[in-house]
Amino acid sequence: MEPALHPSGVRVEVAVPGDAPAILALHRRVLAEGEWFITEPDEFPEGVESKVAVIRDAARSENSVFLVARQQHALVGWAQVVGGGRRRTRHVGRLEMMVDARARGTGVGSALLAAAVAWAEKNPAVHKLSLNVFAHNARAVALYRKFGFEEEGRRLREYRFADGSWRDDILMARPVS
Ligand SMILES: CC(C)(COP(=O)(O)OP(=O)(O)OC[C@H]1O[C@@H](n2cnc3c(N)ncnc32)[C@H](O)[C@@H]1OP(=O)(O)O)[C@@H](O)C(=O)NCCC(=O)NCCS
Repeated sequence: MEPALHPSGVRVEVAVPGDAPAILALHRRVLAEGEWFITEPDEFPEGVESKVAVIRDAARSENSVFLVARQQHALVGWAQVVGGGRRRTRHVGRLEMMVDARARGTGVGSALLAAAVAWAEKNPAVHKLSLNVFAHNARAVALYRKFGFEEEGRRLREYRFADGSWRDDILMARPVS
């Protein structure tokens, strides 16, 4: 994939193993915010080696990709599409993404998602992108809608936070032509 330069100066490209420490650090920082993912920080099992393995697996796979966004050489976001591993699921890519809190609202997420959708559209193995998002994550839901994702379903009170509050889960997806 050719690196994509977004108007905001964000460069999106395929991750290389040397990105693993920065990807891991960003992942840990975003989980520490405690708001956007089901994994709590002390439940996060990954280290640098497992991130390297994920990047290498994606590079070898026909239906997966690991993208990073750089702004003036700093890694400010990443997006991962993991293709299904069985014959009946390999046409579906599951999307996960995050942007550094300091870089949010400046187009980094849009640049990453545009690149992920463009990658999928060029890939004959991928027919659908899908994801899960907390219903309260308005920025993420707005971003996904902007790129053609639609709600396929909602699981009410699917998650319970440490303070006893509940969160609904939205399943969103986008066909890939
Ligand atoms: C969700 C996330 C990836 C979006 O990335 P981002 O770089 O902030 O997104 P962008 O700046 O490209 O904005 C994308 C769209 O979100 C919407 N948006 C931006 N800021 C918003 C806000 N404060 N509230 C609601 N919607 C907002 C807009 O529709 C915007 O598109 P527009 O600028 O063309 O109008 C990022 O905020 C993030 O990493 N959040 C924490 C982790 C997370 O939620 N990951 C997804 C889990 S499913």
